[in-house]
Amino acid sequence: MPQFNINIATGRGLFPVTIGFEGERIDSITYTDGAHASPTRLLIPSPVDLHVHLRDFEQLQKETVSSGTRAALAGGICAVADMPNTVPPVADRETYERRLELMSHDAACDFVLNFCVDDKYSLSQAASVDPFFIKVFLGETTGSYVLEKGLLENVFMLRKPVAIHADIEGMREAIKYSKRYETPLHICHVSRREEVELIARHKDERITCEATPHHLFLSGGYTVKPPLGNVNDRDALWAALGTTIDIVASDHAPHTLEEKEHGAFGISGVETMLPLMVTALVRGEISFKQFYAVMHENPKRILRSHGFEFGFGIGGRADFSIVDTSETYAIDPTTFHSKAKHSPFSGMEVEARVVETWVRGKRFFTNGVCTNEARGAPIPALSKEP
Ligand code: NCD
Ligand code: ZN
Ligand code: ZN
Ligand code: ZN
Repeated sequence: MPQFNINIATGRGLFPVTIGFEGERIDSITYTDGAHASPTRLLIPSPVDLHVHLRDFEQLQKETVSSGTRAALAGGICAVADMPNTVPPVADRETYERRLELMSHDAACDFVLNFCVDDKYSLSQAASVDPFFIKVFLGETTGSYVLEKGLLENVFMLRKPVAIHADIEGMREAIKYSKRYETPLHICHVSRREEVELIARHKDERITCEATPHHLFLSGGYTVKPPLGNVNDRDALWAALGTTIDIVASDHAPHTLEEKEHGAFGISGVETMLPLMVTALVRGEISFKQFYAVMHENPKRILRSHGFEFGFGIGGRADFSIVDTSETYAIDPTTFHSKAKHSPFSGMEVEARVVETWVRGKRFFTNGVCTNEARGAPIPALSKEP
């Protein structure tokens, strides 16, 4: 039975523990005096990225399921939620099943899938699939799968969890329908102070939202949807982390450098999210409580509330990454595992390096490379207690 002596990051700070695991599961977590734990290494329990675009299909030049999920592991991420604005889009049952098959063969980390509704046909198809989210684009972005006018209410009538890409008007409408039909709603990439305030006023246990590292750390100078906000917007996002804002997700949206130069929207972000957020933690820019909420507790709560078995703990899946905080280094996109080896974070100094990523009790990433054991699987459904 492998054992780890390490400091674990929790909502109340770092605690030295010995973790034992048996097969894919955690067998024991024992608090220790820390004598055997390196002071600069910390274990992050089950980090996931609930917003990534793995591309593939007819956009192999941007990213493949293999390269994107290897990038996730290199970023210390154990599992990802794949977005459906692919070419062709994951907007009918057959393509959904093809996507599942492709991911089951090629994914290096674990995953859940989303399904896109943009017209009457995809709406009818959505009834027969069980994705993590039904994704609805209410505004233009990569792929142009904007929902046909007049169909938003019908999407909520499906009573399956809905995730939206929207401006503040779209958010307002989606919130209204989420309440009317008691349908879970996740609001993607919140970027403006007014949006945070709107969501704070209307939030209930069914409504969740996310912020991205680029909207937290950057203002201006890079093409993404939604556009980067100003310092006032960024302050509002930081202040809401762990309260109004449930999770941080990367919105990893890879494009070739050539495509970026022609104005494509999106950032190669899955490898920089955890280093950036752990850096904010060690610099005291966010509390352990906030870090733990947005990187662990809330992603786990969202997955579990949609029926997926996920989360670190005794008897739970041994999913975690180990981050070293002993040295400062500059982000270097040429080292990315993603096909999109460019980033607005290039040259930014961070204090957290992902050294290992473990999924279901196996080491999937170490010493800068993915191991032969790195084979992803769909996150299984929660077994119903008898
Ligand atoms: C995303 C993409 O390229 O797929 N781009 C982006 O700028 N965020 C789409 C999206 O999430 O809106
Ligand atoms: Zn097969
Ligand atoms: Zn979007
Ligand atoms: Zn996105």
